[in-house]
Parts: sequence; C-alpha cells; structure tokens
Amino acid sequence: MNISTLAIHGGLTGDGSSGATAVPIVQTVSYAYDTAQEIADVFAGKAPGYIYTRIANPTTTALELRLAELEDGIGCVATSSGMAAIASVVMGLVKTGDEIIAASGMFAGTVSLFKSTLGRFAVKTTFVDSADVKQFTKAISGKTKLIFVEAIGNPRMDVPDIPAVAEIAHRANIPLIVDNTVTTPVLIKPGRFGADIVVHSTSKFINGHGTAIGGAIIDTGNYNWKTGVFEDISKSCEGAGRLAFLAHLRNLIYRDLGGCAAPMNSFLMLQGLETLAGRMAKHCESAEKLAQFLRGHPKVSWVNYPGLEDNEFHSRTAKLFDGRGGGLLTFGLGERDKAFRFIDSVKLAKNLANLGDTRTLVIHPCSTIFHEFSPYEQKQMAVTEDMVRVSVGLEDFEDIRDDFAQAIETSCGD
Ligand SMILES: Cc1ncc(COP(=O)(O)O)c(C=O)c1O
Repeated sequence: MNISTLAIHGGLTGDGSSGATAVPIVQTVSYAYDTAQEIADVFAGKAPGYIYTRIANPTTTALELRLAELEDGIGCVATSSGMAAIASVVMGLVKTGDEIIAASGMFAGTVSLFKSTLGRFAVKTTFVDSADVKQFTKAISGKTKLIFVEAIGNPRMDVPDIPAVAEIAHRANIPLIVDNTVTTPVLIKPGRFGADIVVHSTSKFINGHGTAIGGAIIDTGNYNWKTGVFEDISKSCEGAGRLAFLAHLRNLIYRDLGGCAAPMNSFLMLQGLETLAGRMAKHCESAEKLAQFLRGHPKVSWVNYPGLEDNEFHSRTAKLFDGRGGGLLTFGLGERDKAFRFIDSVKLAKNLANLGDTRTLVIHPCSTIFHEFSPYEQKQMAVTEDMVRVSVGLEDFEDIRDDFAQAIETSCGD
C-alpha cells in the first residue's frame, strides 16, 4: 500500500466486536485474568496478553503497528513523548564510559539530554557539523556506541547524508539513529537509506493539531543485534530474534523508566496519522512559497530552507526527500530587536514552543528553547540572535504571507 492508504488502514483498525471504524480507547491501567496460572504464564512470557498499561496497551499497540508499517520497520514502541523515546533508546544502548556522536544543530532537549543528563553518567557526546560527512568518521572511537542525527535538524535545518553516515556507523559496527520528527515517513523512511532505529516526537506533524504529546521508536531491522557490541541485547536474540532490541526496551528500559504512551494520546496520534500525507504536502508547499517570499523581501537578511535551490542542502533534499523541504524554516531580520518586534506584530501566527501544528507558529529560539546554552554553544548549533523559526501551518498561503508582510513592515519600518 502507498503512504496515504497505509496511514489510514495500516496495523490494527477499528473494533471488530462493535464495527466501530475508529480504534477504541482502552482506558485502563491493568488487565484481569481468571486464574493465577493464566497471569503467571503471561508474566513468564509463556502466553500472550496485556499485563499493565506501562508495558503495553491495546490502543497503543494499534498505533505501534501502524507506525512500524509506515516506517517499513519490524516493530515499534510508542512513548509518552519524543524525549522519552530518545532517552529510552539511548539508555537502552549506552553504559557509563561509552560515547555518542551527534549532529550539532539538533533540538535543544536532545542536546541537553546528551550533554547534561547523560554527561552525569559519564557518557560523552561529540557534536559534529553534519554538512561535512568526514567529521562523523573522525569522531568515532572504540567507545562510540551510536550515531544520532535529525533528518532535518531543528533549527539548524541541516540535512545529514543519511546513507553515508549509515555506512560510517556500520563500518564501526554501531547503529545509526535518525529522528524523523520534522520530516515524517511522508518525506523519508530513513530505514530505506540505512538507518537502524527511527525515533519520533509524535507531538508534532503526526499528531498535527497540537493536542497531545507522544513519541515512538521503530527498529528498521537493518542492524544485526547479534554482533555482540551490545552484550545484553545479543543475549536476548536467543528468544526474540530480530526483535531483540525492542524486547530489551519493552521488558527492561521502557518498563523501568515508565515513559509509556497514554491510551487517549495514542488514539489522537492514530487520528493524526490518517491525514498526515495530505497535511505534509500542504505544509511543504506553503513553506516553500513562504521561503521564496522571504528571500525576495528586501528587509529580510537571510532565509534557511532546504527546499530552496541555492540552499547548501538542496541536493540532499532532492535525493532523500524527493525534493520536498518540509514545513519548517528559519529566517533573520538582522537584529534581535527586529526579531522580537516581528513576533510581537504577527496577528495570525502564534508565538509558542511547538511545531507541526495546523496553525502557523513562530518563535525566537535564542531566547527560548536554546536560552540555557552559552553564546558559544548557540553559535555551534547555528542559533543566531536574529533567528525566527517558523512552522508553516495549513492556513491559506496568501493569509500567512500577508501576515508576515505586515509584521516585517511593522518591525523593520524606518
Ligand atoms: C526534532 C525533535 N525531536 C524531539 C523532540 C522532543 O519531543 P517531545 O516534545 O514530544 O518530547 C522535539 C520537540 O520539539 C523535536 O523538535
């Protein structure tokens, strides 16, 4: 099936017993069994069954099956947030003393997790500029356990060469993890380009309406967990085979950290998925038009959108995303004050910390999402004082353009 069809019909759909077309919300903590032996068998893994919603839930299972199909994966674990997905994956792979390599222009929460939280456990992360593939090779040491990139960096807007980075990771026998939040499986299925694990903040384009926080982890099936690099996971290959990593997550890391998806949120993500392909097409179309409008505006200093022909990542965008640049862009008006005045002047766009909503959203990353980083760190992450980040919504393009035009005039007028 093609992507729009799969997003509606993939995995479990509806409810066989009532005929309902929507997946039921199984709003329960736990699941009752008739006998002590029956529940003991489920705990021991001798019989299938649900135990407790922190480990698995039928509504969330429906979401997991659909996301796995959409990403061409062998399985999925849905989480309470994108950060819970990233934290679970990474904590499932690294131990004290290990190292991570990550792209430098990524979401601030992920950078903070790698630098500060994992730093507390003596896990070291080396951040590299994804524009230069050789930097990944240079950063690899005997202690490196994974490489992590975003398919489009938020807010650096860089597009890592996923096939080349996957090859570097595989030469070192380690997995490549790709955060596909900004691009979604509509633009790219990273597994087809060599990625081993795909993570999502489903709070963004997948939910699509700014109504629920969630995340997901998909194993693409590309990495051979038997290699012995991750000893405990190799051992679980005996029982779980190719699903060893997901079993290791479900039965240990995810279970112990407690970052499970709420059933109501899983329902909202399933509903969001049904319209994802159509929405992404419109997000991309309007973002490209807005990028072109801003680039042609005399008062705009710069625009960063990988879909623009003269963008440094345009050829990778063509190769990996079929030429579509996504729904996110950044631009500058030359000064921090002008960026603030622009944000204060927009009437249609909302000023808030999210992306992938139906509404057009703007934010000043330097003073908000990245405020805790030093000016030096912000520079490394390509966050500038004059940067405005825009998540282009589904309103009529002419209304978005007119709102931006009036706000630029107000903020940059003489
Ligand atoms: C690329 C990316 N990954 C992960 C996250 C974290 O997701 P969540 O807010 O659902 O925890 C975000 C949030 O903005 C993001 O933009």
